[in-house]
Amino acid sequence: MAEGERTRERERPPLAENPYEMNMRKRRERAERNRSGPVLIKSSNREVFVARQGRLQFYLNPYAYSDTPLQQWQVFKHEIRTRSGKHRHQGGVIIYVLDGTGYSIVDGERVDWKKGDLVLLPMKPEGVEHQHFNAQPGTPAVWVAFYSIPIIEHIAAEMEQVENSPEFKG
Ligand SMILES: [Fe+2]
Repeated sequence: MAEGERTRERERPPLAENPYEMNMRKRRERAERNRSGPVLIKSSNREVFVARQGRLQFYLNPYAYSDTPLQQWQVFKHEIRTRSGKHRHQGGVIIYVLDGTGYSIVDGERVDWKKGDLVLLPMKPEGVEHQHFNAQPGTPAVWVAFYSIPIIEHIAAEMEQVENSPEFKG
């Protein structure tokens, strides 16, 4: 584009808002987030909270943190002191164990894990019921989970809480 054309484009009055222009704006915003959004997510900038499922810390979550690149990912840490809540949702989740030893009951089957292991929640027609346990309460058992939001959206995956974590106080 010639310099003169660029100048004229800058001088144009703003275009009226309509669904097409919203789409254009959203795409520009996404490109800008990927260009200049934070690429280092400091743990110290992320809240630790106790939810029905347990003690969580979300590094990436587009509903809570809209400034990061990679808005299509959820990445969160879960510290299990005794046991997590129990819930059912569709799989497609990758869990990397950062510390400790524990096990998960996945659709009734016990899966033991320890620091450095990778746990997969497979995809099944009815989703996967699961709950996580610390095998040595008193020592940390911590993992981090990764899942892709487009997959969850495309399959309209639901989430059902079956039991609350004992740490959850409402
Ligand atoms: Fe889960």
